[in-house]
Amino acid sequence: MADGNPHLHDQSDPIDEQHVRGKFASRLGFMLAAVGSAVGLGNIWKFPYITGENGGAAFILIYLACIAVVALPALLVEFSLGRHGQTSAIGTYRKIAPGTPWWLNGLMGVLAGFIILSFYSAVAGWVLKYMIVGIVDGYGTYTKEASGSTFGAFIVQPVAPIVYQFIAMLLTSVIIYAGIEKGIERASKYLVPLLGVILILLVVRSVTLPGAEAGLAFMFKPDFSKLNATSFLNAVGLAFFTLSVGMGAMMTYASYVGKEVHLGKTALQVAVFDTGVAILSGIAIFPAVFAFDLEPSSGPGLIFITLPQIFAQMPMGRLVGIAFFFLIFIAALTSMISIMEPVVTWLVDDLNVRRHLATASAGVAIFLVGVPACLSVDDASVLGGIKIPFFGGSLKFFDLLDTVSQNFMLPLGALGACLFLLLAWKRGAAIAEVAGTGGNTNSGMLQLWYWCAVTITPLGILALLVHGVLGMIGKG
Ligand code: PHE
Repeated sequence: MADGNPHLHDQSDPIDEQHVRGKFASRLGFMLAAVGSAVGLGNIWKFPYITGENGGAAFILIYLACIAVVALPALLVEFSLGRHGQTSAIGTYRKIAPGTPWWLNGLMGVLAGFIILSFYSAVAGWVLKYMIVGIVDGYGTYTKEASGSTFGAFIVQPVAPIVYQFIAMLLTSVIIYAGIEKGIERASKYLVPLLGVILILLVVRSVTLPGAEAGLAFMFKPDFSKLNATSFLNAVGLAFFTLSVGMGAMMTYASYVGKEVHLGKTALQVAVFDTGVAILSGIAIFPAVFAFDLEPSSGPGLIFITLPQIFAQMPMGRLVGIAFFFLIFIAALTSMISIMEPVVTWLVDDLNVRRHLATASAGVAIFLVGVPACLSVDDASVLGGIKIPFFGGSLKFFDLLDTVSQNFMLPLGALGACLFLLLAWKRGAAIAEVAGTGGNTNSGMLQLWYWCAVTITPLGILALLVHGVLGMIGKG
């Protein structure tokens, strides 16, 4: 267990704390890990189905605005705080503003990590299952009539989904266990480029299907009448979720980065790649959905119910299906490690638990919360009958975890970080941190970022939260 002094681990240089904590070996490694965190189920599962439910192009426009004005500046706030603190998210708030309650924002992040991973790993498990289905049997039986009921019957099973969820958590824990450089950085360096290649192949396949144009029109021709009161809250929540902002994941990754890295550039690259992957996922999915005359607005089942029907019919569908689910699984895995790392870093840095023990205990604890999540995804699930009251309506446990974390904890966490920047940290220190040792602290872009992060970003978050809550109460 805790040996009280983490420096004892490092025989070569007892005062080099960074070495003891581990560190990304290269700028590229850090960038790929951050892209790996950002690109995940948010891009390939949530973005397409939420876009589908909210009418397509108009929603995409709001989403892009939320990325640029709200989520990207907040990502950079997290990056700068994390590298400045060189410790866990909770520890960073404590270090910069000792004796104040700001650390509670870090604590909310660690809790959000728990919550998000518990349902995220369930969905990652389904992805794994669907990849294996492709390998073992193919998607031939996933016809229009059968696909929905096959998926429905699978997710309500009491054991199988939990086994897949367990495998997903185990793989995540193995990578975390191996450490920052040997685990997270190495995995990201192989998996993220691989993901890019598979995605591009899938896009080519989808847009070359006869009838693909309707899908492209759905994505790129806005119809603003399709938006509703919660569209904006969905857009901002998704923007945070997809950039991994608001729970200290990016803060934690940045705490393992050297001072030479220009955080502003990395944040911009992450946002560009992440948005690119979301759009490309849409292009890989919607043209195929329209080409086969299926429904774009089928909700969370879009990739599990609608797509297998396409794989069952299209030329080379089996291979495409396996590649698709493999792609999503990689994306999910590189995100899961970033959701778990803040919890592990907190145990290691703040509670002096050894990394291996911290990984094992966090993995088990998250899996245990994940079990009831997994058992409440559907009305017909074992725990599906239990409804928890929420803002005038009521939600199943799984949906509650998803909604509370994505639409409330992440925006609030990001709001807290921006307010911290404004009220408890110094402008000069923040800008110098973003620029790194080689960067230009007078750059107009950095001034613009700071200004945005302490004004428009928090105001925007607040407005969207209030708007969303009022909309939900109105609906309820
Ligand atoms: N960004 C990830 C995705 O799009 C999810 C995530 C959320 C990762 C929060 C880390 C923190 O799937």
